[in-house]
Parts: sequence; C-alpha cells; structure tokens
Amino acid sequence: MKTKQGGRLLAPSILSADFASLSESVAKVAPYSGLIHVDVMDGHFVPNITLGPVVVEGLKRTSSLPLDCHLMIEAPDRYIADFAKAGAAFLSVHQEACPHLHRTIQRIREEGMRPGVALNPATPIETLDEILGEVDFILIMSVNPGFGGQKFITSSLGKVRGLKNKIAAMGLGVKVEVDGGVNRQTIPPLLEAGTDWFVAGSAIFGAPDPGAEAKSFKEMIDG
Ligand code: DX5
Ligand code: ZN
Repeated sequence: MKTKQGGRLLAPSILSADFASLSESVAKVAPYSGLIHVDVMDGHFVPNITLGPVVVEGLKRTSSLPLDCHLMIEAPDRYIADFAKAGAAFLSVHQEACPHLHRTIQRIREEGMRPGVALNPATPIETLDEILGEVDFILIMSVNPGFGGQKFITSSLGKVRGLKNKIAAMGLGVKVEVDGGVNRQTIPPLLEAGTDWFVAGSAIFGAPDPGAEAKSFKEMIDG
C-alpha cells in the first residue's frame, strides 16, 4: 500500500467554468480544492484572451481558497502589483516571457505572493537550474498554453520526474504543479511521477457534476 503524501493539492482551473456564475462554480469544487487556478491570457504570449486582476478581485471576495494565478502574458512585471492588490496568493510567470526572470521572481515575493515559474512543453527543465532555489513552485505545462480541453503531452511525465529529482538533490521544498489534460487517465501516471499540485479545468467543469468530479479527483490524489 502506498503511503499518503503530504502537500498534494487539487487546483481546479476556472477557465472551463461558467463565467456567468463563477462564484457558484467555485463553491461546488471548493470543499475538495487546495487552490483555485486562474488562467490569465493576453492574446500575445498565447492566442487567447481571458481575464485580469478585476476578476481575481471578485474571486477573492467569493472564496477563501488561495488563488493561484497563472500569467500567460508578455512582460508580466507590469502587472505584478495589480495581482497582489487583487488578492493573488500564488503567481506564476512563464520562463519564456521573462528575460530577467530572477528579478521578476524577487518582485513577486516583494509584493507578498508566492512565486512560481511556468514552462511550456518545448522548454527543457534545465533552463530552471539557476532559479530553483528562488521559487515556491514550478508549473509544468502538459499542453501548449492557451486553451482548455487539449490532449495531455506524455513527455511531460519525464519532465516532472527530472524536476522532482533535481529538487530533492538540492534539498529544496519547491512544489511541482502540472497543468493541461489532467483527468482520470492522466492522474495515476502523474502521481507516479511525483506531481504535487494537479490543475484540472475541462475534466472538472465539463463534467455533469463538477463537485462530484472534484471529490473523486481529490480521492485519487490523496491515495
Ligand atoms: C491552459 C491553461 C490551463 C487550462 C487547463 O493554457 O493554463 O490551466 O485550464 O485546461 P484542461 O484541464 O482542460 O486541460
Ligand atoms: Zn493554467
């Protein structure tokens, strides 16, 4: 029998929720969630446009869960203070969007949030070697960012494994979050690879009963 691992969390992504009743959607999954994942897209870094600090501020008033904001935007430094003010607890920026990543991470921390770095599927984990000691989490994209409901890219499992090994070898407490195509089929291999935080959008909010689906995912994750 597997021993229970501490620190594993389900992070439903509201991208696939009904935006006409966002607070109800969040309330349905909240009992099973450790974080609420919020996808911010600017139409430049990724082809899609979603939401900004105004919506984060609304979510903050509707739920006491920590808001995990994933910035898929160019030059994210411009908005760090706005997201802090809106109530984001965790803020991830893309390695590919930040030429001065170390400085960006420091700014996120200075604003009182927990910093993370997100990696596109084609970006190797070795690009994080110099920043691992500065972050609270790494977000491994297991689909190309921009849309919900895409197919899981299997090579992401090797990236999670490699990253977990590096983190352990360095004696760090950095969490590994996986985002994209997380569902009933992909949760077991992701658990095996050592994933800490599981982001799931369409698999939860596209289900007939999102609350029941989140409950069942949480049970799988807790083991
Ligand atoms: C994609 C976003 C994801 C998205 C995942 O760019 O970063 O958070 O909501 O959606 P699913 O779970 O449907 O793959
Ligand atoms: Zn995301």
